[in-house]
Amino acid sequence: MTALTVTDVRFEQYGLGPALGVDETRPRISWRFANAPPNFRQEEYEIQLTRLANGVEIDLYSSRITSPESHLVPWPLPAPISSRQRYAARVRARGKDDTVFTPWSEPSFIEAGLLSRSDWSCDLISAPWAGDDPDKAKPEDLFRKEFVIRGSILHARLYITSHGVYEAEINGQRVGDFFLAPGWASYDGRLPYQTYDVTQHLSQTNTLGVRVAEGWFSGRLGFEGGSRNIWGRRTALLAQLEVTLADGSLVTIATDGSWTAAQGPIRLAEIYDGEKYDATAEVPGWSVAGPQSACWTPVEVLPPIPEQVPLLRGAAEPVRRVQVLKPVETITTPAGKTILDFGQNLVGYVRIKNVAGPREHVLLLSHAEVLEDGELGVRPLRVCKARDEYTFRGDLGGESYEPRLTFHGFRYVQVDNWPAGAADLSDSVEAVVCHTDMEERGSFSCSDEKLNKLFANIRWSMRGNFLSVPTDCPQRDERLGWTGDLALFAPTAVLLYGCSGILRDWLQNVWFDQKKLNGVPPMVSPNVLYDNKPWGRVFPLAIWHDVTILGPWALWEETRDHTILAAQYDSMVTWLNCIPKNKEGPTRLWDLSKPQLGDWLDPNAPPSEPHKALTDGVLVANAFLTHSLDLIARVATILGKGDDAAKYHAMAKDARADFAAEYIAPNGRLVSDTQTAYSLAICFHLLSPPQLRRAGSRLAEIVRRNSFRVATGFAGTPFVCEALCLSGHSDVAYAMLLNEKCPSWLYPVTMDATTVWERWDSMLPDGRINPGEMTSFNHYAYGAVAKFMVERLAGLRRLEPGWKRTRVQPEVEGPFTWARAEHLTPYGMVSSSWVLAKHAEAGMNELRIEVVVPPTTEMEVVIPGVDGCRTETVGSGKWLFATAYVRRKGWPVKPIGFFG
Ligand code: BGC
Repeated sequence: MTALTVTDVRFEQYGLGPALGVDETRPRISWRFANAPPNFRQEEYEIQLTRLANGVEIDLYSSRITSPESHLVPWPLPAPISSRQRYAARVRARGKDDTVFTPWSEPSFIEAGLLSRSDWSCDLISAPWAGDDPDKAKPEDLFRKEFVIRGSILHARLYITSHGVYEAEINGQRVGDFFLAPGWASYDGRLPYQTYDVTQHLSQTNTLGVRVAEGWFSGRLGFEGGSRNIWGRRTALLAQLEVTLADGSLVTIATDGSWTAAQGPIRLAEIYDGEKYDATAEVPGWSVAGPQSACWTPVEVLPPIPEQVPLLRGAAEPVRRVQVLKPVETITTPAGKTILDFGQNLVGYVRIKNVAGPREHVLLLSHAEVLEDGELGVRPLRVCKARDEYTFRGDLGGESYEPRLTFHGFRYVQVDNWPAGAADLSDSVEAVVCHTDMEERGSFSCSDEKLNKLFANIRWSMRGNFLSVPTDCPQRDERLGWTGDLALFAPTAVLLYGCSGILRDWLQNVWFDQKKLNGVPPMVSPNVLYDNKPWGRVFPLAIWHDVTILGPWALWEETRDHTILAAQYDSMVTWLNCIPKNKEGPTRLWDLSKPQLGDWLDPNAPPSEPHKALTDGVLVANAFLTHSLDLIARVATILGKGDDAAKYHAMAKDARADFAAEYIAPNGRLVSDTQTAYSLAICFHLLSPPQLRRAGSRLAEIVRRNSFRVATGFAGTPFVCEALCLSGHSDVAYAMLLNEKCPSWLYPVTMDATTVWERWDSMLPDGRINPGEMTSFNHYAYGAVAKFMVERLAGLRRLEPGWKRTRVQPEVEGPFTWARAEHLTPYGMVSSSWVLAKHAEAGMNELRIEVVVPPTTEMEVVIPGVDGCRTETVGSGKWLFATAYVRRKGWPVKPIGFFG
């Protein structure tokens, strides 16, 4: 048998591999186990830390602790890490029944960034012309500095950020693999910076070159024309290269007045409109040492970044180019255009390789998610060109180009002006998928292929919309951090990808923006909607603003990391204090006269008025109010704030009483007799047990009368299937999930969708694009149903936050013959897999449930047998349960027609 080992030693929420430039001074440590025996429990662990000084491990420190915990254990050193310090951590552990420890793990490395402002000795520099023409989109600026390093180089770090987005090169070689660094943040609250190990880039004579463009900092953002210069008029660069020599001395090359700037070949670099690259305007050798053309001008030094704007690495993983797709088809349209179909709606850009074209020839690449009447469907993009242009140098051997400073959401690319005589189009073009580089955590599959496709589509929509911040959509003139979308999707997001880093940073943005708005959270964060713009007037709004509580809570459930709750607690409390209540009547509820987005995009609302849902918007707001109050009471308990917990508990109780008086008939009927109203009332525990039974029956009846079509918008969609299950109608939930008639989750799948759509019918059955103004084909909100698929159909869920205890309880009904889900938890992979096989006895099935329980954790397996359920509790390992099984409910479920 292979020996038990400690693996995956990591820090905080960072992935495997060295954590470079971190902000934490006492980073917590986690690990997993390989080859653990069944029922393994950790009894004791030992962490060994060594500091690396000039490449040598010194200051050995070791700490042995008796504890079953292997997730986020405290930093063992008495002293915090200081700037630039690098540590190696090794872990070993001993199980409950073991007398000896495992061998030491492989070392994992962590290195602190520049933790104090005084560590930064560089100036913020800008091209002299950067502030000109503030109303116009600007080309990129190039910055350069030549320098000589005397002595042998031990290691080198580049600390760098910009106002705008940047890419750095040293001696003509690209530094790092991040896309659109430094990423997007509320730049007046926090400026993210990056740390790169550039040891291998340097020689004796060197040039550091950096291209900087507007990006989110000063480029156009927002709908209906949007705004420019939201965080400032001038792009700028801040960089500090630190080279440690073999004799221990430090050489620093910092941005200052000695740098020079020039305009580069990227003539336009806009998030919405795209990139224009003019290869005839390249500055040859701009990032290598040697004679330069006359285009370089001394930079201007700007005032320093204010002290109150901290420079931070942040918790998020960087955005990277993560996948390459080749076109699946070349289409000639009725109008004679050439369109490439990549077979997948994705986010990123298109790259061309080795294409020969005459000098000054301009190639156009226009992006769209769908075709309409056989042509590129650009209307949904609104005020957004989504077009890249490349002007050829005229190299006979061919030229390669990829956009660096923009991104698009697309499946189709129209190629205009492909040079005559150039190589075959589809061989020379590929799509590059870009997003925040999150670890894949969860998977799902079952016996219905269309549901598997739906799950894959949900995953793609999350990928497309987690690009530096969580956005609503990635293609039109928005791509904004809409708070409501994330509030509803967060519990699902954490089941798909490791996203606690990106969401942690983003929630801090929300809190920063919220403070600027006197306590009312922003509609979008980073906030680009101000008073002078549509939606700029900020007023309290349920769900969207409840993100302050729902977001952190989803992260807590996934990670059991209380620091997330602690960091967001003031944001939660501040938000709840802003909710306007009624002066009379239900005084513990939302002011009934306030506008609400409510069940946004209810399919029954007119396409141009998505807030006009069947369900009363204030009822929806109040249901979420009770939910938020329940959650903050639990947060307060977790954080040891007993008085607050009692207060919020009482407020939740009062709000429930008012909700019942206002909206619930004694027998369980609701004043909004809708799918959404019942779903929320059931899932948020607003009903007594008899009322719940009645409400569940009524919900099932409404769904059957609606021929299993979905009639929920943003608010109800995450909850409707779960509410049906909770009230004993899993068969109806499955009928709804499997329904293909619009509105349904599978309708888009039958329409060849490869992502989740914003509207149930973003594309109408006749292939036309929905006439509504807002029609995206890549919005994750309705994908929240993936949680239901994992938790009910595959039956895998947490029993405690952080996955220390789990439950497998599949809902074996409907036409399904098998289902399976896996999740990479902090302790290792957990999985549930069930299959129905033939049983020896006629009319019976054999249900086999196979589970994998990660080391140091425990699982309850609920096995539904012929004579009811039995529950087994198991420790780590692989376990198989088999039982004779007959489905409790008939299939198919019948809809209710006019005559019953
Ligand atoms: C966005 C939505 C968002 C909504 C709120 C839309 O334009 O795309 O997802 O939540 O506005 O009004």
